[in-house]
Formats: sequence, C-alpha cells, structure tokens
Amino acid sequence: MKIGIDRMAFATTNEYIDLRELAKVRGVDPNKYTIGIGQDQQAVVPPTQDIVTLGAAAARKLMTKQVGDHLSTIIVATESGVDNSKASAINIKELLGLNDYVRAVELKEACYAGTAGIQFARGLVALHPQETVLVIATDIARYGLQTAGEVTQGAGAVAMLISATPHILAIEPTSVNLTKDVMDFWRPLYATEAMVDGKYSTNVYVDFFKQVFTRYQMMTGRQFNDFAGLIFHLPFTKMGKKALEGALGDRHDQVATRLRTALTASQLYCRQVGNVYTGSLYLALLSFLQNRQVNAGDRLGLFSYGSGAEGEFYTGIVQPHFLDHTNDVQAMLQKRHQVSITEYEDMFNHQLGMDEQDVEFDLSNDHAPFVLAGQKNHQRI
Ligand code: CAA
Repeated sequence: MKIGIDRMAFATTNEYIDLRELAKVRGVDPNKYTIGIGQDQQAVVPPTQDIVTLGAAAARKLMTKQVGDHLSTIIVATESGVDNSKASAINIKELLGLNDYVRAVELKEACYAGTAGIQFARGLVALHPQETVLVIATDIARYGLQTAGEVTQGAGAVAMLISATPHILAIEPTSVNLTKDVMDFWRPLYATEAMVDGKYSTNVYVDFFKQVFTRYQMMTGRQFNDFAGLIFHLPFTKMGKKALEGALGDRHDQVATRLRTALTASQLYCRQVGNVYTGSLYLALLSFLQNRQVNAGDRLGLFSYGSGAEGEFYTGIVQPHFLDHTNDVQAMLQKRHQVSITEYEDMFNHQLGMDEQDVEFDLSNDHAPFVLAGQKNHQRI
C-alpha cells in the first residue's frame, strides 16, 4: 500500500521586512545576511497572528467536505505552542468547523515534530486505509531584537494530508533516526524567546545529517545518484548548503551538480520567509517541487532536524500531477506587504507573550482568515 503526502498548503503572515534594511539599521554589511546567512526577507508577525491562526489558515486550503468526512486525526507539530496543556489542534479543529468525531493532539520535539507527525500518521493510515490524517507544522521563530539569531526568525505553517492515495509524495518504508541529548537550542518555560548556541547547533545539524545519511546508504545500498534532490530542514538557507557541501565534499560531477541545483530550488521560499521551525523542511519541499523540473517517479531524500536533538532521513517518490495538489506559494508571497524596521519592532514588542492581563487587539489591519482578537480571563480569543 502507498502512503504519503496527499495535499500540501502553506500560510504565512501578510507582513515582511527586507533584510537589507534590517542590516542597515543594525549596522551590518547586508551581504552577511543575504550571502553569509542566505536570507533576503523575513515574515513579520502582527500581534493578531499566532500558531493557531497560521495553522488554521494553511489547513483551510486543504479542506473539502470529502476530506472532512474521512479525517480521523489532527496532529499539530509546534515548538511555539500557546498553552502548556491544551493542544492547539483543538483550537484549529474548531476554527475549521470540523466534525467533533476526530482525535486532536499536539507534538513537540523542536523543528523535528512535523516529521514525527507524518510518521505517526503513516501508522494510523496503515491501520485504517480509508482515513486521512491532517498534519500541521506551525511555528513562529523568535530570537529577539538585536540578537545574532534575529536574522534567522520567521513564521508560517505547512498543512499536509497523509493518506493511502498520496498525490504528492509516496513515503518509502526505510528511514533512519538519531537522538542525542545536546543543548544547542532550547526555550525554558519562562521564556518567549529561544536560546541558542548558534554555531554549535550548526555543527550538530551537519554532523547529524552525515550520520543518518551514511547509515541510510549502508542499509539500502543507495547513493547520491539515486536522488533527484535532497531536501533539508532550513533554519536559514546557508545551513542546508553546509550540510550538502559537507557530504558532497569536492565532487563536481553531474550528480553533485544536480543536487546543488535542487538545493537552490528548495531554498527559494525560506529565503523570503525565514525559519518556520517544524514546517521548514516542508516549505523547502514545496519550494523544490514548485521551482525545479521534477518528474513523477523521482526519488527525494528528506533530512529532518530538531534541536535537542533529533534527526531523521527518509525518502519518498514523487507522484504524477503533484503540483495540482499544492498551493502556489510564490504568488502568495508576492501579495504580502513590506513593513519598516520600526513597524516590525513595534509588532514584535506587542506579541501576547507571558502577560496575564486582558487585552483586546485592533483587528482593522489584519485581513487574514483567522485572527487572534486578544486575551480574556487567561483565555485566548
Ligand atoms: N559578506 C558575506 N558573508 C559574510 C559577511 C559579509 N560581509 N560577514 C559575515 N559573513 C558570513 C560569515 O563568514 C559566516 O559564514 P559561514 O557560516 O559560512 O562561516 C556567516 O556570514 C555568519 O556569520 P557569523 O558566523 O559571524 O554570524 P553570527 O555570529 O551573527 O551568527 C548564526 C549566525 C549562528 C546563524 C545566528 O544567526 C544564529 O545563532 N541563528 C540561530 C541559530 C539557528 O537557527 N540554528 C539552527 C539550528 S536550530 C533549529 O534548527 C531550530 C530548531 O530545531 C528549534
């Protein structure tokens, strides 16, 4: 039985900043951001958006009556959850107006949890092939104003339907997982901004990729030439480049060129949005599928990484007419509007955060399908 990704959609905020402007204000050479780190623009989050509104906006694009009728489970993967107890999957289920007879949970392991959601969904579909699982990877990457990580922030959600009729990617059975207890990135319960040992996290990521890919090669006998593309979790685009170059070394043959070209296609959306944590690998997959000549039957390798740390390498086979089952991300990004650095800083400072007070947001500037109206009696509205 084939099981895999049937449909995919991405949502982000309507506002973004140009990182060359941020560089100017921060007194940094813009080439550091655009070339050294490999980011051009960054999604900006108004106080009226959070992981629930973004997740619901992405999932809404996939929902039809037929999908709703076969939906058994909603899995939300996030590391920027809005409640320590209640699953945001329940909020999203309500916003989408879905049938009450579904299971709804939230998963956490840094940026890796979206992949965990997909693998768990595969198991559920294998048991009940008529059913569909909705996996939503939704996050806001927030490091803080004037920090080294600021240029690698971002926000967005990727929603995916996992079914036994995968129209995008049929997932193959072999995968390799690696888990090690490392402190490269974390966010204590009292913090609204992530803490990160940036250079260490890059080294751990590159090393994890080498380990899982080498083990995969030993288990399957497959080599680089078996792949039309390797798709990476992209906290910032340079990171995928480091992992690929670390593995390819000084190879410059046809296969190496193909993989480097594939990487460039997979980086285009991350360059414009920034880090979307759990959704980042899947935004890279969308970017690759929509910007590279891909053929049905092509094999793709996916490297998922979550700090802390968990890595997984798995593969899938591209299905015919896959593009008809995705939303056009570039067209969506072109409709966003640019805000100034001052406006970005103001929005950053007005996020709900840890504040216990009641608050009512001005909704007149937010035309997204779902909005966070405020907080009352410790409940988000
Ligand atoms: N022109 C071109 N390139 C330049 C330049 C210039 N003028 N100035 C600097 N650069 C280059 C540097 O040479 C460097 O390149 P290499 O990495 O290839 O050597 C690059 O720009 C960055 O420069 P620095 O190392 O000086 O940058 P920094 O100290 O400001 O830190 C960072 C950069 C480590 C990425 C920092 O932004 C950061 O900490 N970001 C967050 C960390 C992160 O995203 N980690 C990812 C793993 S965590 C994750 O994936 C999330 C999860 O699971 C939860």
